[in-house]
Amino acid sequence: MAIKLSLFSVYLVFFTYYFTEVYSLVEFTNAQCESLDKDFSLFEYCFLKSVNRSYKYVSLKVKLLKVPITKVKVKVALYKRANGYLPFLYNITIDACRFLKAPNTNQIALYFYNLFKDYSNINHTCPFINDLVLDKMSYHSINTKVTKILPFPEGQYMIEMHWIAYDIDRAVTKFYWSLT
Ligand SMILES: *[C@@H]1O[C@H](CO)[C@@H](O)[C@H](O)[C@H]1NC(C)=O
Ligand SMILES: *[C@@H]1O[C@H](CO)[C@@H](O)[C@H](O)[C@H]1NC(C)=O
Repeated sequence: MAIKLSLFSVYLVFFTYYFTEVYSLVEFTNAQCESLDKDFSLFEYCFLKSVNRSYKYVSLKVKLLKVPITKVKVKVALYKRANGYLPFLYNITIDACRFLKAPNTNQIALYFYNLFKDYSNINHTCPFINDLVLDKMSYHSINTKVTKILPFPEGQYMIEMHWIAYDIDRAVTKFYWSLT
C-alpha cells in the first residue's frame, strides 16, 4: 500500500512537471564504477571525458566472466547532495530480465532505461552473454529527454546502480551530475 501510494505521488510529480515544462540543464560531473565480485565482472574502463566545455560524455565497459547470466536485478537509487549525498525520490529495484521482455509494463524503469539505451548494448532480453558497454553517453541527449520531465530542483545529484546477479550484489556504478 505504502509503495503504491509513493509510486502514485511520483507519477503525479512527473505529470505535473511535464505539463508545466521545466527547462533545466543536466551536466555530468563524475562517473565511478566498482566491481564487488572480481570473479564475476570486471570494469575495463569507466570514465567521464570532457572534450570541451559543451561536450562531455561517459563511457564504460564491463567484462562478464560467468556468462550466460540469466538472472539480473538492478537497484536504482537517486541521491541529492546536501550534507553528503542523501536519498532522493527514487529507490527502486528492477528485475532486468522481466523488464527487458516487457518494458512498457514498468514506467519508472522505462524512464531510466530510455536515458541509457541508445548508448548501450543492453538492447536484448536475457541471458547476458556479452560484455556490457555504454558508449559516449553525452548529457546533451539526456537534456532533451529529461528536461521536460525532471521533477527536481537544481542541485548536485548522484544516481547509484547496483547490479545484482543471482541475488548477489556484483557491481556498483555511480553517475554524478548537476542540474542548473
Ligand atoms: C566540442 O566538441 C565537439 C566534438 O568534437 C564539437 O562538435 C563541438 O563543436 C565543440 N564545441 C565547442 C564549443 O568547441
Ligand atoms: C531503498 O529502499 C530499501 C527498501 O525499502 C531500503 O532498505 C534502502 O535503504 C533504501 N535505499 C535508499 C538509498 O534510500
